[in-house]
Amino acid sequence: MRAMTVIPGKADSASVGEVAEPPETDGTMLVEGVLAGICGTDLELVSGEFGGDGANRLVLGHESLGQVLDAPPGSGFSNGDLVAGIVRRPDPEPCPACARGEWDFCRNGRYTERGIKGHDGYGAERWRVDPYFAVRVPAELGRLGVLIEPASILTKAWEQVDRIGGRSWYEPKQVLVTGAGPIGLLAALIAAQRGYAVHVLDRSDQGPKPQLVRDLGGSFLTNLEDLQVQPDVVIEATGAGPVVVESAKLLAPAGVMCLTGIAPGPSSIDVQMDALVRQLVVRNAALVGSVNAAKRHYADAVDVLLAADRDWLDRLITRTVPLSDWPSALTKEPDDIKVVVDLRA
Ligand code: BGC
Repeated sequence: MRAMTVIPGKADSASVGEVAEPPETDGTMLVEGVLAGICGTDLELVSGEFGGDGANRLVLGHESLGQVLDAPPGSGFSNGDLVAGIVRRPDPEPCPACARGEWDFCRNGRYTERGIKGHDGYGAERWRVDPYFAVRVPAELGRLGVLIEPASILTKAWEQVDRIGGRSWYEPKQVLVTGAGPIGLLAALIAAQRGYAVHVLDRSDQGPKPQLVRDLGGSFLTNLEDLQVQPDVVIEATGAGPVVVESAKLLAPAGVMCLTGIAPGPSSIDVQMDALVRQLVVRNAALVGSVNAAKRHYADAVDVLLAADRDWLDRLITRTVPLSDWPSALTKEPDDIKVVVDLRA
């Protein structure tokens, strides 16, 4: 069967690979691949700079949507159901976090991730998954189910913000989101659903992003100096040093900033660190990094997508490329937000 393959650690190795049928060890449920979303992590894996030693082929695809071909009895799934696969698997030990189902907080780094680290992904004509690691996609979401995994990154991030915010009186009103890619826009969607005033920063005001933000009732900025309020919460989705530092300086007292993005780097900037530290300390500011998601965050992501305007979500998927030509999904086009691969084409 065909799959989206890459050799991590080897540049320009992305290809339409011919691979064996998915092994039973991947799980008892057989699924037909429908869509795979492409994100920055895939671009890093394809660049050859991350994820491997250039020796082993990996099936990419961690943002998934599939249709069940063979559901094992008692699995809770039926043939024909739409499903998305969970990305991370607990480490084999397991560490205390993984043992509690908090593999997103794995302590020893020996977890695996489908399509990213040590385990083939979902970017194939067929894949297998243990039903425990599959999430039912309500039929009404249809192709939008491919957004469940990226949305799970934000339901987890918002949970972190809430937990940290809860250290004292917490009633956020103003939210700054930095970066208007899929992660930033989904962060803004959740902020808008919660009734917060949302401001989204991006470096460019070209393409569909400004209108998507306005349709959430948010304001769109290309310059942080135009932000007229102090954010109670910042969801950072660029990973760019200057944006991180400048946004942290703006935090309101007891503000929480959640870092969700990673920039390829390396880059360095001049920072007056002692002044920044003073500002963070005297305001009780909190900066927290957040990666991946546990099972409950996927369920929360389904709820977020179900509560959203379907047309708005549909506009996030700006390009669909066939599996037969999937490496073209890796070349950025000006209006791209989320590019997905049609695994049946
Ligand atoms: C994925 C996460 C994953 C992270 C690091 C992200 O693109 O969405 O699930 O944990 O990459 O590998």
